[in-house]
Amino acid sequence: MRELIRDPESFCTLGIETSCDETGLCLLRGGREIRAEVLASQIEEHAPYGGVIPEMASRRHQEIFLPLLQELFRRGDIRNPAEEIDLIAVTQGPGLMGALLVGVMSAKGLAQGWNLPLLGVNHLEGHIFANVLHDPRLEPPFLNLVVSGGHTEIYLVREYGSYELLGRTRDDAAGEAYDKVAKMLHLGYPGGPKVDDLASRGNPEAFDLPVPMGNSSEIAFSFSGLKTAVLWKIEALRKEGISPFPLEDLCASFQKAAVASLTGKVRLAMKQTRISRVAVSGGVAANRGLRQRLTEIRGGEIYLPPLALCTDNAAMIAAAGYNGYMRGRRGSLDLSPDPGMVLE
Ligand code: KG4
Ligand code: ZN
Repeated sequence: MRELIRDPESFCTLGIETSCDETGLCLLRGGREIRAEVLASQIEEHAPYGGVIPEMASRRHQEIFLPLLQELFRRGDIRNPAEEIDLIAVTQGPGLMGALLVGVMSAKGLAQGWNLPLLGVNHLEGHIFANVLHDPRLEPPFLNLVVSGGHTEIYLVREYGSYELLGRTRDDAAGEAYDKVAKMLHLGYPGGPKVDDLASRGNPEAFDLPVPMGNSSEIAFSFSGLKTAVLWKIEALRKEGISPFPLEDLCASFQKAAVASLTGKVRLAMKQTRISRVAVSGGVAANRGLRQRLTEIRGGEIYLPPLALCTDNAAMIAAAGYNGYMRGRRGSLDLSPDPGMVLE
């Protein structure tokens, strides 16, 4: 494989993300400048089923990968990829096996064909780099809350490449709870943004719902109890025949409890580690209620990515790959997808 010859500022990384239901490709210049980017979301195809259908996701990634790559090169004005690209960074895991396979195998083919270095990137490290990419002031050590459809975790980022898991969810991820509550309320998939929207118009004090792990001094999350409490409340309200159904109030009360749990554990992690710099990433980092409450944490230096960098994208994968490569990480064509990959 070709070794680094370009200077770090003009170094060009091709990022590839296919871990779930978004096919994302990006050309990153240096560690922060997005030269071109394309994203194909499959949300509409999965929506009628109320969730991601893994087999459908991999087929769609495979169908769209090459046309999307051509579009990326058109936008980035890449004429000779073998000469103009310096590194390929691809999501290795965690994620859906079939979906990851498409990205990893495509990346291997391109790396071999163009004789380029290849690095596998942990999707969660990618989410952490969404903030690094966006804001040059963010430097380790910092805490990172990753909140998405598959993850709810707080990491201590001691330095780039060194991640300590401080706590995680014991059952559902926060985004999963949002999606399930939305499903109970027949709001469609993915429900997170819809619940967020309705919550902004409701009264968060209308219903008293439990704050998950609210009384525990452990950095841990649990959202299945809250989800069940919402289900019981919906059933009770329907039985009582309350009309109109207090949809906004219920969403606002759910959001209040979910956000209180997330921000409470961020406060706890800040206290335990004495680190006040906190970055938040993942799809749920787009939540307006969460963003608002986080900025109210006293003594906190909070970093939130722009909305496009919260949900899955390839720029964050390219940024994590670039950073790893500059730290001396090297990969090989033996790379294989790792659906259960952990971040260490
Ligand atoms: O990071 P992401 O795109 O994919 C995973 O890696 O899971 O996150 C998607 C999740 C979905 O569960 C979606 O409902 C949730 O993020 N989400 C939100 C909001 N926007 C996306 N949840 C709450 N409020 C939002 N505004
Ligand atoms: Zn993600």
